[in-house]
Parts: sequence; C-alpha cells; structure tokens
Amino acid sequence: MAADPAAAGRPWALLALDESTLPLVAEVERSTHDHPWGEGHFRDSIAAGYWCQLLVTPALPGDPEAWAGAPRLADGRLLLAYLVAMPGYCEAHLLNITTVPLHRRQGCARLLLEALQAWSLCQGAECLWLEVRAGNLGARALYERQGFRQVGLRRGYYPMDGAQREDAVIMSLPLVPAAAETEVGA
Ligand SMILES: CC(C)(COP(=O)(O)OP(=O)(O)OC[C@H]1O[C@@H](n2cnc3c(N)ncnc32)[C@H](O)[C@@H]1OP(=O)(O)O)[C@@H](O)C(=O)NCCC(=O)NCCS
Repeated sequence: MAADPAAAGRPWALLALDESTLPLVAEVERSTHDHPWGEGHFRDSIAAGYWCQLLVTPALPGDPEAWAGAPRLADGRLLLAYLVAMPGYCEAHLLNITTVPLHRRQGCARLLLEALQAWSLCQGAECLWLEVRAGNLGARALYERQGFRQVGLRRGYYPMDGAQREDAVIMSLPLVPAAAETEVGA
C-alpha cells in the first residue's frame, strides 16, 4: 500500500464500531498497548454516543503475503485502524487512535484524523484536544504533522510499569480561525 490508502486509489471505508466488531478491536488493542482499553471502555464509549470508527479496506489480489494473518472483519475486510472521540461543547476530544501494526506508516492514522476533523466541524466543534504520553514520540510526530500543538503538560498523568508515572502532553488543534489556543496548567 502506498503512503495513503486514499491517494493510492485503494478503496477504504469508515465503519461504526459495534458489538459485532468489538471483540476484534479489543484483541488489536490488547496486542498493541501496554495499558490497553478493555471491551468495557469501548462499550461505554459506544453507549455514550462517542464517535467510534473503524478504518477498513477490502482484501485485494496482490496484497502482501504478510497480511494473510492480519485482523479481519467477519466479511473478510481488513481492519486497518480505529479511533474513539468524545464530543463536547464546541470541542471534541480524541480518546484513542490505533493502527494495526502491519498497516503502520501507510497513512491510516492521518486519514482517520482528517475524518475526525471533518466530523468535529460538523458537530460544531471549534477545537480538537488530546493527551499523549510524553514518551510516545511516534504519536506526537503524527499529531504535530496534522497541525496539533502542545498547549500543556499534566505531570505523572499516566501509569507505567512499577511505581513510576509518565507525563501527558496536552495538544490542541483549532478547527476554525477564531479558536485561539488555550494554555492549560500543569
Ligand atoms: C501512532 C499511530 C496511531 C500512528 O499510526 P500510523 O497509521 O502508522 O500513522 P500514519 O502512517 O498516518 O503517519 C502519518 C505521519 O505521522 C508521523 N508518524 C507516524 N508514526 C510515526 C513514528 N512511529 N515515528 C515517527 N513519525 C511517525 C509521520 O510523519 C507519518 O508520515 P510518514 O510516514 O510519511 O513519515 C500508530 O503508531 C499506533 O497505533 N501506535 C500505538 C497506539 C498509539 O500510540 N496511539 C496514540 C495514543 S495517543
């Protein structure tokens, strides 16, 4: 797959996360995160009306052999990535974005973030927010490339193995020109 599934002309679709796809997503989550969400987190997000979306694509002849064991929906489509976002008053908060390891650095997260921006604008959001582990340099690079900027730091926000904790970097992306960046205290 080229750098962007859309640019490569590969068909893709967004699909709402539901009970039928939740076990697959939870399995990917467990295998990719040190501190994964459980099925209950996803189920609560669906029940709360959060935007829970899967990025999927049909399997095509000529796909890499390595994709043979890649996560698939019951209809055979490949699960590329997923996100969960919480709508708020004039803002939206990205809670989870994950790309299946086999499909990383192929533009999947970028595509999902662009879809999130479009959805958030339709909801009347003026700004997007997220928190990311300070040590998650790949995710921070992704967000910066999408235009997010650091606006605060929460010290010791995330659990780590043992007694240590990790800082959260707070980032925001104004969606409309009037949405000025806000400094958030540590
Ligand atoms: C972070 C994550 C979502 C990125 O997903 P992805 O689909 O591989 O990202 P994309 O291919 O859309 O990357 C777009 C751009 O972001 C940047 N980027 C993404 N991952 C990066 C990495 N590991 N290192 C450096 N830059 C990275 C690059 O600029 C990349 O463009 P390029 O590939 O042309 O250089 C993915 O690595 C992941 O699921 N990680 C585990 C879960 C996680 O950390 N989620 C974020 C929690 S806040």
